[in-house]
Amino acid sequence: MFGKKKTVSAIDKEQLELLENAQKRIKQKKRLFIHFILFLIGSLLLIICNLVLGIGKEYTLFEKDWFIYAILLWGFFFIYHAFNVFITHKFMGKAWEKEQLEKLVSKQQQRIEKLKAEFIKEEASIEQSETTNKTKTSKNTPELTIIVAAAENNAIGKDNQLIWHLSDDLKRFKALTNGHHIIMGRKTFESFPKPLPNRTHVVITRQENYPVPDDVIVVNNLDDAIDASKNDPQPFIIGGGEIYKQAMGIADKIELTRVHENFEADTFFPDIDETQWKEVAHSLHDKDINNDYEYSFITYKRK
Ligand SMILES: NC(=O)c1ccc[n+]([C@@H]2O[C@H](COP(=O)([O-])OP(=O)(O)OC[C@H]3O[C@@H](n4cnc5c(N)ncnc54)[C@H](OP(=O)(O)O)[C@@H]3O)[C@@H](O)[C@H]2O)c1
Repeated sequence: MFGKKKTVSAIDKEQLELLENAQKRIKQKKRLFIHFILFLIGSLLLIICNLVLGIGKEYTLFEKDWFIYAILLWGFFFIYHAFNVFITHKFMGKAWEKEQLEKLVSKQQQRIEKLKAEFIKEEASIEQSETTNKTKTSKNTPELTIIVAAAENNAIGKDNQLIWHLSDDLKRFKALTNGHHIIMGRKTFESFPKPLPNRTHVVITRQENYPVPDDVIVVNNLDDAIDASKNDPQPFIIGGGEIYKQAMGIADKIELTRVHENFEADTFFPDIDETQWKEVAHSLHDKDINNDYEYSFITYKRK
């Protein structure tokens, strides 16, 4: 997220360099020490060769034995070597290491500060997008609701008509859908004597130029019907059988009137899969003078 990997590897590279330099420094000091020992032994041998064994005794320069010049020359090389280790390569000394370490620490601090700033920025943008999403969800995502009256055997219609008359169900339908978009199949639309007042009708048909009154919207599939209802916070799918079947997988809510009776029918509501839907409200009503059958109002929400 913050390009962490890149940053860490850069720091490691510098640390590795520091370690390699420290190892080099130890090797250099070791070599200088060995050189010093060799110089001592070599000088001693030269003295023995010349003074004890008399080798090259006849070679002198400015009345001095040759071994003195040889030792001086070697001494010069040794001093040059020591100079190289302690003076010329001083950049690898303790002060340099300290300086490098401070540089490294300050670089790391700078990176940490940068990461902190990026983190705070990112956190703020995540918070903002979450807020935006919440607002979107609460304001703009419609709650697509199926509304249906179905018998115990899921019967909903016969010969393009409802099978029963339940006054309370019609009242509930009117109250819930009032002012909303109602999405329906062409056959259900044709089962109405005329469009229902105070609702926006969205009719689904495969026919081109299907004739409807002016304020009725015609679309060619369910997606377009939902799209046409996008400004409604709760559009209703009101049937019939074909449209219910297609909407079961995408609806958020079902307002079911369960009529406690079995009927002969040609159109049925799909089974409500209890693994997908959770019952959130249930009220049982007896039959009476206006309602020929016992029925329940049940609300389901998608799990
Ligand atoms: N009990 C209740 O709550 C309730 C509610 C509503 C309806 N009903 C009953 O249900 C019955 C009607 O249901 P139904 O299943 O026969 O018909 P429907 O679902 O109302 O309408 C079917 C028609 O919708 C169109 N359609 C369906 N899927 C489509 C798609 N994917 N793309 C484009 N167009 C599509 C086709 O119209 P075209 O043929 O024009 O292409 C199709 O013939 C009636 O008996 C009615 O009374 C009961």
